[in-house]
Amino acid sequence: MNDPKKHSYELSENILDNLNTAVVLLDGQLNVLCINPSAEMLLGVSSHKITSKPVRKLLADDDLFAAISDTLASNHPFTQRERTIRINDHKVTVDISVQPISASGASGKNETRLLLELSHLDRHLRISREENLLAQHETIRALLRSMAHEVKNPLGGIRGAAQLLERELENPDLAEYTQVIIGEADRLKKLVDRMLGPNVRPNKILVNIHSVTERVRSLLKADKSRDVKIFFDYDPSIPDVIFDPEHLIQAVLNIVRNAAQALDEDDSGEQKEKIITIKTRILRHFNIGYKRHKLVAKMDIIDNGPGISEDMQERIFMPLITGRAEGTGLGLSIAQSLMSQNGGLIECHSKPGKTVFSLLLPVNDE
Ligand SMILES: Nc1ncnc2c1ncn2[C@@H]1O[C@H](COP(=O)(O)OP(=O)(O)O)[C@@H](O)[C@H]1O
Ligand SMILES: [Mg+2]
Repeated sequence: MNDPKKHSYELSENILDNLNTAVVLLDGQLNVLCINPSAEMLLGVSSHKITSKPVRKLLADDDLFAAISDTLASNHPFTQRERTIRINDHKVTVDISVQPISASGASGKNETRLLLELSHLDRHLRISREENLLAQHETIRALLRSMAHEVKNPLGGIRGAAQLLERELENPDLAEYTQVIIGEADRLKKLVDRMLGPNVRPNKILVNIHSVTERVRSLLKADKSRDVKIFFDYDPSIPDVIFDPEHLIQAVLNIVRNAAQALDEDDSGEQKEKIITIKTRILRHFNIGYKRHKLVAKMDIIDNGPGISEDMQERIFMPLITGRAEGTGLGLSIAQSLMSQNGGLIECHSKPGKTVFSLLLPVNDE
């Protein structure tokens, strides 16, 4: 017979292990009794290293520590929304709740323990920002498709009429003008096609993302005109992804070429090495939009150029948005749509001296 008490214990343990909220239990001396995997991830510690150590070791944040001590002394719960706390060398925004609970301690006497719950808001913010980006992209593509249809039909008519007219011309010198009409109609059609981006269904196969970056490396050798150095930093343990390799190559090339152009045009006057780094890592339990994946391959393309201003960052993935005089503004919009056709996503974070484009690719774990 199954022991119902043991069963219920296993069940709670299972829930704690899979909870998205970080949970830490403290004893009456503010030592850590236990910590769940989400808390290990958020606080960057491992359970066996921190168990029975003072909570002070976990939190560099003096005010928060004071609030925790007060909760123990006053026996009143404490909650705070959207609090920014410092963990190691970075800041995160969390909703915090500290709850006193009474339990029998090691000595058998009743003691007050504290239950800390932290939910990581930056993750939620990131997910909703990504969802917006994906939705925005879909809207733009739908708009472009219908516009392309409306433009290309009459263009065909104009071109055909100009050809007929040319045949009827008595003075052949006038053909110069019909040729202008035909040439410009062709140019417009090409522009519309380019804005739409490649419209072939992705040919998804198992690919090793490093075989893609190596292809990109050899393609870039042909671009050599610049004093830009490219470094590669691979995590060789990344499993293969199911993706159209041609799509991935195109997306990576578009981003790397932008980085090289930004470095080339960097006139901040500083004498520094111009560096692009392509870095791959594996992420566990990670969202791409609202879709949660067990494993996600991440490829960062990092440059130490001038960066992208904040208002520009919001728009760079839209078609025709360019910051360069001779730019078309199509590179990133095409890269983003290639990625999304394969279930992936591109994100961008930029400040002067460090611009990161992250390509996120779901790893099929079956
Ligand atoms: N690594 C980067 N550093 C600085 N600016 C960038 C970078 N990548 C993209 N941009 C900006 O985003 C704009 C849009 O890029 P893109 O869609 O490829 O169009 P284009 O390259 O034709 O301008 C660029 O014009 C540039 O202003
Ligand atoms: Mg470009």
